Amino acid sequence: MMRDRAVAFAPGRVNLIGEHTDYNDGLGLPFAIADGLTVTAEAIAGDEIVALARDLNDGAGEEDRFDAAAPERPRDGGWRAFVRGIAAELQVAGLPVRPARLELHGTVPQGSGLSSSAALSVAVALGLLALSGAEAADRRQLARICSRVENDWVGAQTGLLDQLASLFGERDRVLRIDFRSLAVEPAPLRLGDWQLVTVDSHESHDLSASGYNARREESEEAARLLGIDSLRDAPADAFGRLPDPLGRRVRHVQDENARVEATVRALHDDDLAAVARLLDASHASLRDDYAASTDAVEATVARLKAAGAAGARMVGGGFGGHVLALLPPGATVPEDGLVVRPDAGARLVVSAP
Ligand code: GLA
Repeated sequence: MMRDRAVAFAPGRVNLIGEHTDYNDGLGLPFAIADGLTVTAEAIAGDEIVALARDLNDGAGEEDRFDAAAPERPRDGGWRAFVRGIAAELQVAGLPVRPARLELHGTVPQGSGLSSSAALSVAVALGLLALSGAEAADRRQLARICSRVENDWVGAQTGLLDQLASLFGERDRVLRIDFRSLAVEPAPLRLGDWQLVTVDSHESHDLSASGYNARREESEEAARLLGIDSLRDAPADAFGRLPDPLGRRVRHVQDENARVEATVRALHDDDLAAVARLLDASHASLRDDYAASTDAVEATVARLKAAGAAGARMVGGGFGGHVLALLPPGATVPEDGLVVRPDAGARLVVSAP
């Protein structure tokens, strides 16, 4: 059913564990958070899409206009590249897009590792599809479209972690995602008196400019040298067969996949102390084997541990961004900490015929 107006919301995400595994066909364990991005979409006469960035951190108050049927690449990247890319790639995938006015309101800090970019692309996609009555489009297909925009329009060679988390999020559950089959299996997160908080390292990362793409290339090179399609199939002796640092990169991916499985088991047993130890181990591996940490991130992890966190690790692409800490009962939430818990995934908030 076509609609003249729709409001779509897409959340940001936190990845509990399973970092830099998605583009290696591995395992991740993210959840959607309450913060996200809302798009108010209205069908308009004419041929254009008019987008207004109401309160995005980067681009607040800016406007963009483009041909709805044939969006061109923007000169200056940023939020416009996401909006135009989504409008274009939905149509490439055969999904209908109408001329529209889009207002964007975001509450996820940008460049934070909480995936403001997936929230932006998923919310724009759902808002546009709702106007055409196509919001029931397959969510794995939508994740791929949003990821293609990030890769081809924005220039960050990211995987599917953020988009799938935003699209499949569930309250009080983390999502075990197998990035080879794209199977999504919810697992319970019963925090009791424990709390999960994220804290900004105050080092803003820009995935397209950081070492992220370099890590992805290293992963591909390692797979090539091992004669396999992806590091999911790396043999147990891969570390010894590869030159440094490729051996360490592969070891991180192998160990991180195993930590995802161990975390799922610990969650089923309500063993949060074990989850905290796995978070610490993940961070050490991201720092030492994957070399994705920075001094500001290390200082933030150290501060959280000193303040009583049972476990703490960098989240998302790294090279800056946020740190996730698991606080045991009685520990004080740091003043700059954002308490997070699993919340529902992307949805239409209100829609009128
Ligand atoms: C970023 C990317 C994801 C994923 C993580 C690292 O968030 O967008 O696809 O690769 O980094 O786990």
